[in-house]
Amino acid sequence: MPSPNIWNSPHVYEIENRAVDPDGTLDSAMRAIRPWAGSTVLDVGCGTGFHLPEFAREAAKVIGVEPHAELAAAARQRVCDVPNVTVRMGAAQALPLPDASVDVVHARWAYFFGPGCEPGLTELERVGRRGGAIFIIDNDATRSTFGGWFLRGLPSYDPAAVERFWTRRGFRREPLTIRWSFGDRADFESVLRIEFPADLAAELLREHPGLEVDYAVNLWWRYL
Ligand SMILES: C[S@@+](CC[C@H](N)C(=O)[O-])C[C@H]1O[C@@H](n2cnc3c(N)ncnc32)[C@H](O)[C@@H]1O
Repeated sequence: MPSPNIWNSPHVYEIENRAVDPDGTLDSAMRAIRPWAGSTVLDVGCGTGFHLPEFAREAAKVIGVEPHAELAAAARQRVCDVPNVTVRMGAAQALPLPDASVDVVHARWAYFFGPGCEPGLTELERVGRRGGAIFIIDNDATRSTFGGWFLRGLPSYDPAAVERFWTRRGFRREPLTIRWSFGDRADFESVLRIEFPADLAAELLREHPGLEVDYAVNLWWRYL
């Protein structure tokens, strides 16, 4: 699944990750559904491994899977001092993991975008252990400032079709409002420029003052 934002600009994507959800709303919502203390966590499409250390604080074991070789290397480097984390090269639709070996699956803005990701969901069924949970984090284009920007960048996006896709597969939707919070305008600008076409990024920068953006997401989840 092409991911030009992080593939082409991993350093800017790191700035974006630092700006996302400073209140820990996503973390709290996932913990309330299925905490991971003592469990095995799989982060599918882990990119440069930004989220691996946080999972590793409480999980028994954390596995990051990432198909892009340079990003997988960066993730490995990030966690080289964290003994309970491993990073494997691989893709959601062919996970390099044994059957029934994972309790909690986390996929954040990675591969699982609705229709088309069925092969990856079949793999999650295979590697997941009963009693665990799957968490998929994606944009909610129906509301918030960021949701509006997302639809302007991708007018063909059909939120109702995405909702039908997940609901039919037994996922529940937890709508959450997080925020982007940047340290300065240069960081904000660099992130908008990797997330949107140049002309739209320029428009958004003209329209939107300050360093904060309200950002609606859906946490799609279900128990294994
Ligand atoms: C926008 S990035 C998000 C990275 C990470 N989840 C994060 O939040 O920092 C999307 C990631 O999904 C990965 N990806 C793309 N296709 C994939 C696939 N078929 N299976 C697993 N990961 C995939 C990309 O290489 C990229 O690292």
